[in-house]
Amino acid sequence: MGIIKCFLKGVKLGGGMLFYPFITGIFLNLVIVVSAMPAYYHDLPGNRQPCNDCHTLHYSEAGTRPADVEPGGPFQQLLLRSTTNKLCLFCHDGSDPNAPDVLNIVTMYSSSGDEHSGAGFFDNSGSYPNPKGHDLGITAAIVPFSSMVNVTLNCASCHDPHGTPNYRNILTSPAGGVGISVEMARDVFRDVPPGDPPSASASIAAYRESNEGYKANTSLWCAECHDSLKPDVNIPGNRVHHFSDVQINGAGYPTDPLHWVAGTGSGFGTTTGDAVEGVPRLRFQVSQATDYISSKQVGADNEVMCATCHLAHGGNYEKGLVWPYLELGSPADANSGCQQCHNN
Ligand code: HEC
Ligand code: HEC
Ligand code: HEC
Ligand code: HEC
Ligand code: HEC
Ligand code: HEC
Repeated sequence: MGIIKCFLKGVKLGGGMLFYPFITGIFLNLVIVVSAMPAYYHDLPGNRQPCNDCHTLHYSEAGTRPADVEPGGPFQQLLLRSTTNKLCLFCHDGSDPNAPDVLNIVTMYSSSGDEHSGAGFFDNSGSYPNPKGHDLGITAAIVPFSSMVNVTLNCASCHDPHGTPNYRNILTSPAGGVGISVEMARDVFRDVPPGDPPSASASIAAYRESNEGYKANTSLWCAECHDSLKPDVNIPGNRVHHFSDVQINGAGYPTDPLHWVAGTGSGFGTTTGDAVEGVPRLRFQVSQATDYISSKQVGADNEVMCATCHLAHGGNYEKGLVWPYLELGSPADANSGCQQCHNN
């Protein structure tokens, strides 16, 4: 690494003035990118995306624009699209059957046995607000439960396009600072890995919701941006919000752990949003988990987390909630999620 850096420095210093910034930008970062590549990008060796899936090095020097590139460029960081959202969504909008679809309407999981993926989906690609989850490409002057202001989210606000050690390539520090890592096989487990090389059926199996089991740190990760939900802010003496990362059978809690474990009756059902009360068991966290199977073990000491109630991208219901809690007209499933733990 040291040698490579020295070598590149030589190239950089040897370059003419005109090329200086270009070469600096590309090569210095190339060192970082390449060093991260062997371990992480899209996580398996054969999945590593070629640079030219996302970058074009000579936009129109040949006189014509390359066929797969958006008109109006060249674009920042030599990307194929004018914005990061457009870049990611040109594959992740459902048009590429190998790429997990994150843009409404998502049909790829409909025969998978799950209602959606682990993160759910965005209602739109950024032209207008999304009341059912995170907004893309729209500036939020204030952010709920957060000290952040004027935030405009894009895919790279939460994911590193070049990969990280974290599950789903999420950023360690989405809000700056030290951040928190959430690693696959340490904090989150999966049953099957994605295809290597990717395929449509393997992506469905890998990214459907039930392929993940949770152990730790995902709520803390959300609270990086939603910092007023950090555990040290939300303590019993300063009770502002429903807790996360606590056990359902914690002492004195107004819950019904036996009902949760039984998994039948009020709150439990097979389909979300139908006319019959009850939704599939919500996601939970097992802080003692050591593998996928133990992370899925239903028990009275299962823990509630942000992803119990919310989908990271969004979904069919207000505030990215997993079931129609805030929907008008009090649907049959309005209280179902709450009832699974509370059975009031
Ligand atoms: C999945 C799409 C994707 C792939 C594949 C990809 N990049 Fe990038 N790259 C991006 C995006 C998006 C940015 C802009 C970063 C941002 O907005 O945070 C970027 C930025 C860069 C930059 C500018 C500085 C930086 O790191 O932010 C360099 C250099 C770079 N990429 C090199 C590469 C190389 C070399 C490869 C192949 C080994 C590669 N990229 C593969 C999407 C990609
Ligand atoms: C050229 C098509 C293409 C583009 C462009 C693309 N992706 Fe992907 N992405 C895929 C495919 C195919 C997969 C599934 C295969 C896999 O798991 O490696 C995938 C998987 C992923 C995953 C899951 C990775 C894992 O292992 O958990 C994330 C997260 C992701 N992409 C984010 C992004 C982001 C963010 C961008 C934009 C910077 C982007 N992708 C651009 C094709 C693409
Ligand atoms: C607010 C943060 C955030 C933003 C913005 C975001 N993601 Fe994600 N994404 C996540 C998290 C967290 C997960 C993992 C959720 C889980 O399964 O626990 C995820 C999962 C994924 C996956 C895995 C498949 C799935 O649906 O679970 C893909 C692919 C992906 N994101 C792509 C994208 C793309 C493309 C964009 C931009 C259009 C984007 N993400 C924007 C946080 C975000
Ligand atoms: C990069 C910072 C960032 C991260 C990380 C982040 N959020 Fe957000 N979140 C925002 C911003 C900005 C808004 C306000 C704009 C909007 O609605 O997207 C928001 C809004 C929300 C909303 C309200 C959505 C609505 O429809 O009104 C919910 C719910 C939410 N976030 C939950 C989460 C959860 C759960 C996680 C973790 C999976 C998370 N957030 C991670 C920045 C973030
Ligand atoms: C037990 C279910 C549950 C858990 C756990 C939970 N939420 Fe929520 N969240 C809700 C509900 C329900 C709402 C709708 C507003 C309300 O009732 O307060 C909501 C609203 C929100 C909003 C939007 C507030 C607004 O004014 O628009 C954000 C942001 C949010 N939650 C983030 C999080 C984060 C981050 C976590 C984890 C640290 C989390 N939530 C954990 C159920 C939950
Ligand atoms: C996965 C289990 C789970 C789900 C789902 C759940 N809760 Fe809770 N709830 C708990 C636990 C554990 C506690 C005790 C920790 C705490 O007080 O936050 C609790 C506590 C509460 C409290 C008491 C707070 C206090 O001040 O003592 C209320 C009220 C509450 N939940 C409402 C709800 C509502 C409304 C929903 C649905 C939107 C919901 N819960 C969904 C597990 C859950």
